Amino acid sequence: MSKILVTGGTGYIGSHTVVELQNSGYEVVIVDNLDNSSIKILDQITQITGIKPDFQELDLCDEPKTLEFIKNNPDITGVIHFAAHKAVGESVQLPLKYYRNNFFSLINLLTAFAGREVNFVFSSSCTVYGQPDVLPVTEEAPVKKAESPYGNTKQIAEEVLFETANANKNYRVISLRYFNPVGAHESALIGELPIGVPQNLVPFITQSAIGKRGPITVFGNDYNTPDGSCVRDYIHVVDLAKAHIAALRRQEAGKMPAKFEIFNIGTGKGSSVLEVINAFEKSTGVKLEYKIGPRREGDIEKVWGDVSKAEKELGWKAKLGVEDMMRSAWAWEEYINKNLF
Ligand code: NAD
Ligand code: WQD
Repeated sequence: MSKILVTGGTGYIGSHTVVELQNSGYEVVIVDNLDNSSIKILDQITQITGIKPDFQELDLCDEPKTLEFIKNNPDITGVIHFAAHKAVGESVQLPLKYYRNNFFSLINLLTAFAGREVNFVFSSSCTVYGQPDVLPVTEEAPVKKAESPYGNTKQIAEEVLFETANANKNYRVISLRYFNPVGAHESALIGELPIGVPQNLVPFITQSAIGKRGPITVFGNDYNTPDGSCVRDYIHVVDLAKAHIAALRRQEAGKMPAKFEIFNIGTGKGSSVLEVINAFEKSTGVKLEYKIGPRREGDIEKVWGDVSKAEKELGWKAKLGVEDMMRSAWAWEEYINKNLF
């Protein structure tokens, strides 16, 4: 049985991926410094799968400890690297916090595997495309100048990974460019846990619906889109988690024609902010209060992915739609509310 290291495994996407890994028969070890997640997630995962994942509290920016941890775990064959800071706005205020955490952790991990075989899956983002000229956007589209230090860390990390994979015959790297991950596990035992006022649409919707926040502001209805609000490719976090398994399987099967590959991970379908609000109301029966406000600075007008490469090469395709995403996000919000998570 392969042992997979999941960095950031107590976080939002990491925890869902741990569940899918365990359900697929992988042994998992999580490394997280709990900067943006709770240790309680380990028990939640155990409730879902019946298996408590190994956990090591570790800051991957600590080079000696990271090298030691990897050395002491010679049976790790794959790494899924989620650990990073991810708040776009904060990265503009505190760029060094983002460059330090997102680069040091990546470089320490890659260094730690020197001389060893490793399958490496990296969490990238559609943010690297900025506003694409052609939609749906393919993996071949030019990477635009990053709009934030956070986005820049993803662009540069992909270059670091490309160069490192080409220089090390034992490294196989897949970078997954996620579109907008939302929703929660069907058990409602794990989901997104935003700290403070959510900046992202779906957690704001669920917190507003449960009464933790006031009405939602739709950031602009004068865009060049069918209803004037911005369009995104929302992807259910469980579908996204499964894409990581497909990537690992491809690496393990020796099917990679190159040392470094990129895949878009989305549904291939765009939804506007107003459509998401409607889908929430329709799928949950809960009425939302919203108002139209000004545009949010730095927002992309519309983006959705061409996901045919992932379908063809990874044999992976998103199965869940926006209503499934909303229903599951709402069930998780209700769970958090009842359980004072
Ligand atoms: P998250 O914050 O929920 O999870 C990240 C985890 O990494 C957290 O548990 C945090 O404590 C941990 N971490 C951060 N720095 C660390 C360090 N130095 N050492 C050890 N652990 C550390 O975020 P998420 O939404 O699950 O995102 C996971 C990855 O996916 C990130 O790389 C993010 O940039 C990327 N991504 C996220 C989105 C999104 O919208 N959520 C979209 C595209 C890409
Ligand atoms: C979605 C849409 C908003 C809140 C961000 C990062 C991106 C990626 C995913 C990591 C937009 C609108 C939002 C609200 C609104 N993360 N909105 N009212 O901006 O597409 O992407 O998360 O890689 O890098 O930038 O996601 O959820 O913030 O916004 O109208 O209260 O909802 O304008 O059109 P975004 P989001």
